[in-house]
Amino acid sequence: MCGIAGYIGKKQAAPIILDGLSRLEYRGYDSAGIAVFDGEKIRMQKATGRLRILEEMTQHGATLPGVAGIGHTRWATHGSPSDVNAHPHMNEENSIAVVHNGIIENYAQLKQKLQQKGYKFASETDTEVLVHMLTEYYHGDPLEAIEKVMHRVEGSYALGILFLDHPHHIYAARKDSPLIIGESGEGRFIASDVPAILQYTRSVYYMENEEIACLSHAHTRFFNVDGEAIQKDPVTIDWDIHAAEKGGFEYFMLKEIYEQPRAIRDTISPRIKNGAIDLSEIQISDDEWKAFRKITIVACGSAYHSGVTGRYVLEDLARIPTEVDLASEYRYRNPIYDPDTLVIIVSQSGETADSLAALRDARSHGCKVLAIVNVVGSSIAREADAVFYTWAGPEIAVATTKAYSCQIAAFYLLALKLASLRAAITPERFRTLLDALVCLPGQIEGLLSQKEKIQFFANHYLATEHIFFIGRGIDYALCLEASLKLKEISYIHSEAYAAGELKHGTISLMENGTLVIAVATQDSLYPKTVSNIVEVKSRGAFVMALTTLQHQEMEKCADYVLYIPETEAPFMGSLAIIPLQLFAYYVSLGRGLDVDKPRNLAKSVTVE
Ligand code: M6R
Repeated sequence: MCGIAGYIGKKQAAPIILDGLSRLEYRGYDSAGIAVFDGEKIRMQKATGRLRILEEMTQHGATLPGVAGIGHTRWATHGSPSDVNAHPHMNEENSIAVVHNGIIENYAQLKQKLQQKGYKFASETDTEVLVHMLTEYYHGDPLEAIEKVMHRVEGSYALGILFLDHPHHIYAARKDSPLIIGESGEGRFIASDVPAILQYTRSVYYMENEEIACLSHAHTRFFNVDGEAIQKDPVTIDWDIHAAEKGGFEYFMLKEIYEQPRAIRDTISPRIKNGAIDLSEIQISDDEWKAFRKITIVACGSAYHSGVTGRYVLEDLARIPTEVDLASEYRYRNPIYDPDTLVIIVSQSGETADSLAALRDARSHGCKVLAIVNVVGSSIAREADAVFYTWAGPEIAVATTKAYSCQIAAFYLLALKLASLRAAITPERFRTLLDALVCLPGQIEGLLSQKEKIQFFANHYLATEHIFFIGRGIDYALCLEASLKLKEISYIHSEAYAAGELKHGTISLMENGTLVIAVATQDSLYPKTVSNIVEVKSRGAFVMALTTLQHQEMEKCADYVLYIPETEAPFMGSLAIIPLQLFAYYVSLGRGLDVDKPRNLAKSVTVE
């Protein structure tokens, strides 16, 4: 959600900044802009729409010479997507330029005061108040002006700032919106996320809340919000650069679907040692694990759906009461906190604003918070009491696939660990489950090799207007995710229903030809789901069923059947999601849509 890239160094800044922005495209945006010192003035160029428009306008940066600059991809919050609302924003004198990620919550009051002082606003954005405030407080010392602004604004921000008087520096500041600083022999970088600078450096500083950075071509100095110098240590990013490239696949999403066997293996293998679950890397002792009386899982979107699976698996295997809530609801519903509850925050990006707020709230009420996070060093990872990293690697497509799969794998491990500590399952059952768990990556590889069958089916449903997903138990949790996947990238209306709930209202929507995707992987619930299939078929629905190989009789009642191999019931979701991810992918592809960058969506939702 919005991306910042900035550079100061020995090379031309604009091509580096545009390249950095292109690697942040996955975050979602609707306009882009760049500002560069040309030796005399700050020159700026902005364009609504895709980044390539800005690239063409600037001849890939050639028309903006200079060795220091900042750039931005904007995901509109205040004011429509337009050239004037795009960042950077400059003051009337063209002497200060700002790019901003986040939301200035008290911008209306600040804007009113600034207007009373005579400042003229060109855009509808909250960001523009920052430019005028910096102008108001700037008397030769950029640091002093930035500090004053930071003391007065409320909300979240990652900032990149140019001062015409200081052409040998760029400035950065952060509160509740991610920002990193990179350094190499060639210069210094600012960026919202690692992929933007990975090809230039692996040496990175993570900016913390209310920190300011001053970058020159050879140095970076850090300050707190009171202007006191602070010492920070760089960390080395060990990502494989190819992980952030498409590697021959047409879209990142397909590549990431194919990476799932590797990602799940990387997530589970190091945590299985000598036939036991080893979570010693997580800062929770066995005694603490045993003392928790309840688990509350909090997350957004697909991470929430992984939590719904987590609840089924934790309650089933570990017999621990578990609830799951949407972070945007949880943080405002005045939940009853209990220090014996473990709160688990799930997030791919580790930056989701609502999930981060829920984490802070839970901690401030004395709960221990475990984060299941994919991005190392992200805000949620840093602020949680304990972290369980999913080793999915960088996920670029907006629609999550491999991170979701690793999240549910993380829940399997937690459930097995707790089940054994609480003696909730027999040692034999534990071993059976562990054996099944390590087989999942290989089984997923097998499923991926049958992608043509799904592509064939998807191609027949490109023009469908509504699709319903139904299932029970873990299959229902899976339907939630499958339905979200489909709608976010295909723009087809789709809903997920607990199959037993259909006759309480939704069945009235069934008519001739309505496509229903029925998931029936749970043996104990199979006859019940079959009854629901019969119900919708008798109202004219066309049913595509997804079940296990042992249930070939499904062909008698469903119109089209996809099979997955057998695994233990709690782990079925890991296999069943694969054909449904591919279904969403091929529908989107067949409809000619931008699979990786669906409209209106951002990869990392850093505002409420
Ligand atoms: O980074 P997070 O896991 O916290 O993100 C949560 C949701 O925004 C995310 O899962 C979203 O629903 C995805 N677009 C789903 O594909």
